[in-house]
Amino acid sequence: MIDKQSQVPIYHQIEEHIKAKIENGEYQPGDALPSEREYAEQLNVSRMTVRQAITNLVNEHYLKRIKGRGTFITERKFEQHLNGLTSFTEDMKVRGMKPSNKLVHFEIVPATTEISEQLHIAAHTPVYEIKRIRLAENIPMALERTYIPANLMKGLTDDIVQHSIYQYVEEELALKLGKARQIFEATLANEEESTLLEIPEESPILSITRITKLVDGTIFEVVQSAYRADQYKFILDLDR
Ligand code: GLP
Repeated sequence: MIDKQSQVPIYHQIEEHIKAKIENGEYQPGDALPSEREYAEQLNVSRMTVRQAITNLVNEHYLKRIKGRGTFITERKFEQHLNGLTSFTEDMKVRGMKPSNKLVHFEIVPATTEISEQLHIAAHTPVYEIKRIRLAENIPMALERTYIPANLMKGLTDDIVQHSIYQYVEEELALKLGKARQIFEATLANEEESTLLEIPEESPILSITRITKLVDGTIFEVVQSAYRADQYKFILDLDR
């Protein structure tokens, strides 16, 4: 399948050969790639040429090298369209994935200055502080800290927040969610995030703050989320 007479460089042909195997599912995310030597023998090309092809695919994120272990097919990232105000539970269900939560912390606390400013309430007003690990098919995707004014959501229980907060707000409390603002930042996983998200410390994180209003304009939640950058990519369609 390598055409040495072709004008297409051999390393490029090898790249296409590997990409085709990833696309047709022969190589699955997480699989180890055969060694450079095996490829070189199988395709009857030099190891240098194979190395060049693999390096290019690593740079394009099709493959990843793990020190001392080898080269692996990159896990496919979860694609999140940013077109609507959806919940984590809904996002996972749309993709046929099973969402779950691990509740790390659930308490009513006086709002800090920062949170009270974001929620437009007086400092020290009681707020729910909810920390949840959000999982898809049991893989941790994000760590979320949610702050909700306690008087807006009387009777919130740890059992409810182990499921969907948005579903509870809309179906049980009959409140209508309106608009949200979402702010994105790139950060590195701190000790807590790396432990709870099961990733090495200082791994890349997409930090998202969402401030959500009810239709009447009342600010209902401030959510600080740390999404695993190795699992997620966000897509936004732009018009001109
Ligand atoms: C996403 C958003 C959060 C929001 C949550 C609600 O994860 N980043 O800001 O609070 O969805 O999710 P659920 O209704 O599943 O609890």
